[in-house]
This record gives sequence, structure tokens and C-alpha cells, in this order.
Amino acid sequence: MNIQIINGPNLNLLGKREPDIYGNISFESYLNELIQKYPQIRFDYFQSNVEGHLIDKLHEVGFSVDGIILNAGAYTHTSIALADAIKAVNSPVIEVHLSNIHSREKFRRVSMIAPVCIGSIAGFGMDSYRLATEAFIAAKYGMR
Ligand code: DQA
Repeated sequence: MNIQIINGPNLNLLGKREPDIYGNISFESYLNELIQKYPQIRFDYFQSNVEGHLIDKLHEVGFSVDGIILNAGAYTHTSIALADAIKAVNSPVIEVHLSNIHSREKFRRVSMIAPVCIGSIAGFGMDSYRLATEAFIAAKYGMR
């Protein structure tokens, strides 16, 4: 099983950025934990602050990987182009957020990508990525 993780703008600063909201560990160190926890899964990771690069990555992997875990950062709330890219590819996409976007500012309650993802997980910090991984495992192999 092959899962592509895609992180959008400002998520390269996880660990340093607003730690009260997003925590104080870097995504790279969390990813190492995830890789160790699921040795049977191949994880690939991509991060960009550029909307078009996120779209290019979806096009590149979206016809081959088993699942895509996407934290689109603030593009979640604005990007019709990202929503169109998710719709255009075959691989299922799970939207994740570290924070509970529904308990924050009003503009964060709107997700342009939620309707085209198979589901959304928000509010569990880094654990949102593990929960999305579990959802892909359950979708492929059933509940274990
Ligand atoms: C975020 C929530 C977004 O509203 C915000 O713009 C981010 C991070 C999250 O993971 O909680 O950059 O996607």
C-alpha cells in the first residue's frame, strides 16, 4: 500500500509556527514515527507553499497511489483549482487538518476541497495523519 502525504503552505514551519495551535514537533520527525508504525505502507511526502505545485503533485501521483492525505493549509478555504485537481485524479483523497477548523475563525469553516474528498479529519494535531492512514487501511483491508 502506497500513501502520498501532501502538505500545503506554511506547513514546512510545523514545530515553529504558532506552537499553541499546531504543536512543537516538525512534520519530518512525526513522519518518521508514522513510517515506523506502519512498516508495510510506503509513505511519500511532499510539501509546497505554491498552489500550482500542489496541483502538479496531485496530477503526478493521483493515478497510481492507493491514497492521498492532503493538508492544503489555507488553500483549503480558497482554492477551486485544488478542488478541481482532486476531482480530476483517480486516487482517493482524505482532507486533514491539525486544528479543528470548525472551532476557529469563520473563514476556516469553509472548505472548498471537502466535497471532493472521501472524508475529512480535523482537530487531532499530528494524529490527524495517523487517523487518515487508518481510514485508508480500513477502506482497503476492512476493520482490523
Ligand atoms: C490547517 C488549518 C488552516 O486553516 C490553516 O490555514 C493552516 C493549517 C491545519 O492543519 O489546522 O495552515 O490546515
